[in-house]
Amino acid sequence: MNRTAPRVALIIASTRTNRLADLVAPWVHAQLQARPDLEVDLIDIRETTALPFYDLPAAPAMARRHYTSAPERALGERLDAADGFVILTNEYNHGYSAGLKNVLDHYFAEFEHKPVAFIGYGNVGGSRAIEQLRQVVAELNMVSVRESVHILGIQFPAIREGGATAQAVFDTLHLRLTAMIDHLLWWARALAAARDDPANPVG
Ligand SMILES: Cc1cc2nc3c(=O)[nH]c(=O)nc-3n(C[C@H](O)[C@H](O)[C@H](O)COP(=O)(O)O)c2cc1C
Repeated sequence: MNRTAPRVALIIASTRTNRLADLVAPWVHAQLQARPDLEVDLIDIRETTALPFYDLPAAPAMARRHYTSAPERALGERLDAADGFVILTNEYNHGYSAGLKNVLDHYFAEFEHKPVAFIGYGNVGGSRAIEQLRQVVAELNMVSVRESVHILGIQFPAIREGGATAQAVFDTLHLRLTAMIDHLLWWARALAAARDDPANPVG
């Protein structure tokens, strides 16, 4: 990490038209942008449709940054530049989005030895999707941050109403989001230093 402030990639997982994510992501993005101790990049899975359904000749864990198309390289370089990730996840049938899984499967070194934190929304705050994602990111050699943010289904109508009503919901989540980002940055700094340490046998 050659910067003083870690770079955090905010990943929007839902790919649906009229998704609730569009009403939540601006709040998360603004909260991240307001922090002087990080840089933020916004990665929208819906805009990664140039990435085909997984069809690579070799597993990314083995091939390591061997890109086979321009869109794959472009996204890979953005993921590589990140020191940590915040995934804003929807929950479909108690799981996370297929588009997100496709992106996670396409890369490995770009995610490895980096932290990831989750914001979920759904009937029980997207918690089932988040717990599944924790299993997946462990296989990518990532650290998943304990603290997470959950937006409940009963809060959806207030968010859809927008304005002060939505802001009132977001205000209740502010402290939790702050704690989550603080812990993400702890790991981002620690792991960036470890990645840069030539004494470590794996890069
Ligand atoms: C196919 C499908 C399956 C869903 N399954 C769940 C679910 O298992 N748990 C849940 O809390 N919400 C579920 N929902 C409701 C979603 O939480 C809700 O539609 C939410 O708006 C999805 O996020 P999005 O609008 O950003 O895509 C489901 C919605 C769809 C379309």
